[in-house]
Amino acid sequence: MNGIERARNDVCWCGSGQKYKKCHLECDEHIALLREQGAVVPPHYLMKTEEQIAGIRAASQFTRYVLDMVEQRIVPGVTTEDINQWVHEYTVSRGAYPAPLNYRGFPKSVCTSVNEQVCHGIPDAYVLEEGDIINVDVTTLVGGYYGDASRTFLIGECRQEAETIARVARECMELGIAQVKPFAHVGDVGAAIEAHANAHGFSVVREYGGHGIGSEFHDHFYLPHYGEAGRGAVLLPNMVFTVEPMINAGAWQCRLLANRWTAVTVDGRLSAQWEHTVRVTMEGVEILSA
Ligand code: MF3
Ligand code: CO
Ligand code: CO
Repeated sequence: MNGIERARNDVCWCGSGQKYKKCHLECDEHIALLREQGAVVPPHYLMKTEEQIAGIRAASQFTRYVLDMVEQRIVPGVTTEDINQWVHEYTVSRGAYPAPLNYRGFPKSVCTSVNEQVCHGIPDAYVLEEGDIINVDVTTLVGGYYGDASRTFLIGECRQEAETIARVARECMELGIAQVKPFAHVGDVGAAIEAHANAHGFSVVREYGGHGIGSEFHDHFYLPHYGEAGRGAVLLPNMVFTVEPMINAGAWQCRLLANRWTAVTVDGRLSAQWEHTVRVTMEGVEILSA
């Protein structure tokens, strides 16, 4: 039975403890209407319960503390394998699991993507030098739920383009997140990101996007970071997903390294990325990994 068929005086499916008629009834009626009108509406099961959201929030908060730890220690001379060990030990010593490790065969506990690397960089003996930029992407499994976030760090003094792309990638993420609210379209998020990147002469990677997240690392929802306002699927209250734009200094196209994981820019120019896990609220958005 779907939400609408429930008795109006039952407790709401979301776990708020409120009566359905006072909670998500109106919302579910609006969703049914949008479906009748032919809108692209994600499946109702992507709307998480309060219990699921609490679990993803706890995992996202853990992930954010891992990134804070990395931010405090990262300096010129550190290797990407050092970062892997910091993340691994911090995580397992607190009873959590570093989700990248063995995920579809990924060999390490964190992704470290340096300079022209777009995403899914594999930690190794590379020594970070003054002037590098690096995205550290942390995903943690805590109590059965995933939290996913990443930041781009500047290593020492960087040239102007490196500083600018790291800042603009962060602003793109923030502007994308600012579009998230019930019944907004995924194209609203993508259009906001693309407009800001393009205004700085940068491009937006198209091969990878944001994703639903919860008790799966990558859930059944895909968020392109480019697009047209008013187009694509609508966002529903209590959907949880990532916003993680990858911004390139030159062309948006990527190439895969021989390790079959790491994407790099086709032209060898810089790429930067920031990521948060977010939740659609009744009014707007909650950044779970903030
Ligand atoms: N954390 C990445 C994301 O944002 C996914 C990494 S998959 C891995 O979706 F296997 F490379 F870790
Ligand atoms: Co992600
Ligand atoms: Co990530």
